[in-house]
Amino acid sequence: MNLEKLNPEQREAVLATEGPLLLFAGAGSGKTRVLVHRIAHLIHDRRVSPWNLLAVTFTNKAAGEMKDRVGNLLGRRADDVWISTFHSAGVRILRKHAARLGYGDAFVIYDDGDQMSLIKECLEELKLNPKIFNPRAVESRIDAAKNELIEPQDFPTDDFFNEQVARVYELYAKKLRDNNAMDFGDLLLLPVRLFERHPEVLRLYRERLHYLMVDEYQDTNHAQYRLVKLLAGERQNLCVVGDDDQ
Ligand SMILES: Nc1ncnc2c1ncn2[C@@H]1O[C@H](COP(=O)(O)OP(=O)(O)OP(=O)(O)O)[C@@H](O)[C@H]1O
Ligand SMILES: [Mg+2]
Repeated sequence: MNLEKLNPEQREAVLATEGPLLLFAGAGSGKTRVLVHRIAHLIHDRRVSPWNLLAVTFTNKAAGEMKDRVGNLLGRRADDVWISTFHSAGVRILRKHAARLGYGDAFVIYDDGDQMSLIKECLEELKLNPKIFNPRAVESRIDAAKNELIEPQDFPTDDFFNEQVARVYELYAKKLRDNNAMDFGDLLLLPVRLFERHPEVLRLYRERLHYLMVDEYQDTNHAQYRLVKLLAGERQNLCVVGDDDQ
């Protein structure tokens, strides 16, 4: 792999493949370029199987671009590298193992509209006035809780508002389960729970994924951080790059 076109800092980051690496640099400075070359270097020069890599980012667009850029360097071998958003990686993991968490294999994924309808349904059932308990506000507290890996029973009931949100959250979570449905937050929270509760499943992924990479690391929430940490295991071959201006 030709690394001549990288600057010295980029080259050093590409070659430091073992152990954790945290790289922060400015916008447009070539952070994704480092990840793309690192993937190519591992596969082409170090003979790592594409199967042993996972690179995650945040948007489908960014994942698509990364795939294209790796493809430009590696050709067809790039097809087998798992390059994905956090959410699609979550779906892929859950499609295989949802049964262990009590979901059917054919679980459905609720988009924002479905989620809002369900929250409104819960508010109504609990006789909470939507003028006081604004469904959007309730939704955003529930989303924030899931991103922090806080489940209904652990939701802080420190004031009256949160006390009611906790009730909504509990009912909402029950209804999701009854409907064999997951919301976007579940796509991160449930893989974390899966790996925490089923070490034998986590082991399968750790055995496969020898090198992990995260782009736009500055945007990771707690659930995403935890997921990556679990996958990295003792090997800790984890390279994260982020924007230091944000
Ligand atoms: N050493 C280099 N030599 C030539 N071109 C470079 C070099 N480093 C980066 N570039 C170019 O600069 C542009 C930005 O690179 P890249 O997308 O990797 O940056 P980034 O830091 O990930 O950007 P963003 O902050 O938008 O995510 C790309 O067109 C890339 O090819
Ligand atoms: Mg980038």
